[in-house]
Amino acid sequence: MREGLRIAIFASGTGSNAQALIEKMQSLGGQIEFVLTDKPHAGVLERAQALATMSYVVEKKTDRAAHEQEILKLVDEHQIDWILLAGYMRLLSANFLKALADRHEGRAQVVNIHPSLLPDYPGAGSLEKAFADKVEFSGVTLHLVDEGMDTGPIIQQLPLALKEFTSFADFKAGMHRLEHQIYTEFLEKIIVGQIPTNYFKETAEC
Ligand code: GRF
Repeated sequence: MREGLRIAIFASGTGSNAQALIEKMQSLGGQIEFVLTDKPHAGVLERAQALATMSYVVEKKTDRAAHEQEILKLVDEHQIDWILLAGYMRLLSANFLKALADRHEGRAQVVNIHPSLLPDYPGAGSLEKAFADKVEFSGVTLHLVDEGMDTGPIIQQLPLALKEFTSFADFKAGMHRLEHQIYTEFLEKIIVGQIPTNYFKETAEC
């Protein structure tokens, strides 16, 4: 296990991915440094508390730059190495990502999980849209974050055949399970040091 690696999770919603990540980290003998949300009533706060994990609510009260500045302050105070987005419903600005990259040898080290096989169905409502379109396969994507909407370089994708599901609720649950799997496996790779130090440089140049 890499000593002293500090990971933050940003989430805006119910937080099932955040919970899976917190539990994985704890099973590896570590702790997620903090969970950050922009929504004061987000379900993720209860999940973090139940798992004895520190959380912050940083609402966007004024402009975007001020909001991101407040977040950067926390990231710096906690010396965060990685930010894992798990249903965080805000885009991060190029300035914010650059500020992070400046702290990490040119790599922002922000990752996102998305419930579609990107570049198909970016943005909100991707599960509903794919199900309504009766696509043969959907799936989940783990990708690096840039300033676009689900546009950063893809790290890994796992497909899921829709024929396995009879209802939208089942499909959604299956997709969540897959998200938790791919994200916790990635977290473990970070923690045990399987992500090479030049990983992002090479990935970004692909
Ligand atoms: C997940 O489907 C994630 O891929 C997307 O937002 C959803 C968050 O779900 N970005 P949860 O809050 O982790 O349950």
